[in-house]
Amino acid sequence: MKIYYLSATGNSLAAARSLARELDEDVTLVSFRSIRLLPEIETEDTAVGFIFPVYFADVPREFLACIRKMKFRQKTYLFAIATCNGVPGTTLRTLSGALEQKGAHLSAAFSLDMPGNALITPQATSDKRLNEFPGRLSQIARMIAHREQTSFPGIPVREALRSAAVRAIGPRFVVNPRKFHTVETACVGCGLCARVCPASNIIISNNRPRWDSNCIHCLACFHWCPKQAIHIGGLLSDRPRYHHPEVSLSDLC
Ligand SMILES: Cc1cc2nc3c(=O)[nH]c(=O)nc-3n(C[C@H](O)[C@H](O)[C@H](O)COP(=O)(O)O)c2cc1C
Ligand code: SF4
Ligand code: SF4
Repeated sequence: MKIYYLSATGNSLAAARSLARELDEDVTLVSFRSIRLLPEIETEDTAVGFIFPVYFADVPREFLACIRKMKFRQKTYLFAIATCNGVPGTTLRTLSGALEQKGAHLSAAFSLDMPGNALITPQATSDKRLNEFPGRLSQIARMIAHREQTSFPGIPVREALRSAAVRAIGPRFVVNPRKFHTVETACVGCGLCARVCPASNIIISNNRPRWDSNCIHCLACFHWCPKQAIHIGGLLSDRPRYHHPEVSLSDLC
């Protein structure tokens, strides 16, 4: 089995690792950063999973672009886990539709509530989600081990409209890479932000980061800067930094 994952603050990587541990089969984890520039991604595996965060009530655009480049064997069991902060929106539908367009079928798909890395999750809710995580993962693992199918209930019109609004507003007003900047006195020029960026979008020049134009909005740079020197403006400026307790910086670089 192959699991393709994208993770900035570790929630999705923790889910991918836990799943791999629970399954009684060979599982290879493949990161977004290692495949993002490949012209074509071919897989011979009979089961393939996608584990990624929800961005703006949908699949991260660049992760979806990778999935569009994939070629699967006929009858491959395809599954997905979208980690999110309680609002998966149209994510699983989008993924299912994209795979159908390729003649493939998403057999099982789950959304998994985790602590949010964009909007703040109240501490009690974060703790509850982290406590429930192992049990929920075991449940999902059992279904995947048995190659079970899940159904895709239709998205109510109100939810679809809400997702569309989040997509329209979020990239401009909530996470807008053009507003990223460092506090000059706090930044020590260590370059960790550039190393952790899964899209190689940060260039260190004169010991300071400069953001290029290929940002995927993941917020890894913001959360992992050891000096909390990166600020992103707007709604999220003052939010505390977060990463999944079982994931460290070196797991993502
Ligand atoms: C740019 C951005 C947009 C997000 N949009 C949503 C969203 O629409 N709905 C939601 O429930 N969570 C949203 N989140 C929260 C993440 O999906 C969630 O925290 C995820 O588990 C992070 O995964 P990671 O730790 O593997 O990076 C967003 C996060 C980011 C960075
Ligand atoms: S990780 Fe933080 S301190 Fe290090 S170079 Fe980037 S902004 Fe500066
Ligand atoms: S610049 Fe920051 S937010 Fe943008 S892709 Fe890189 S790490 Fe993620």
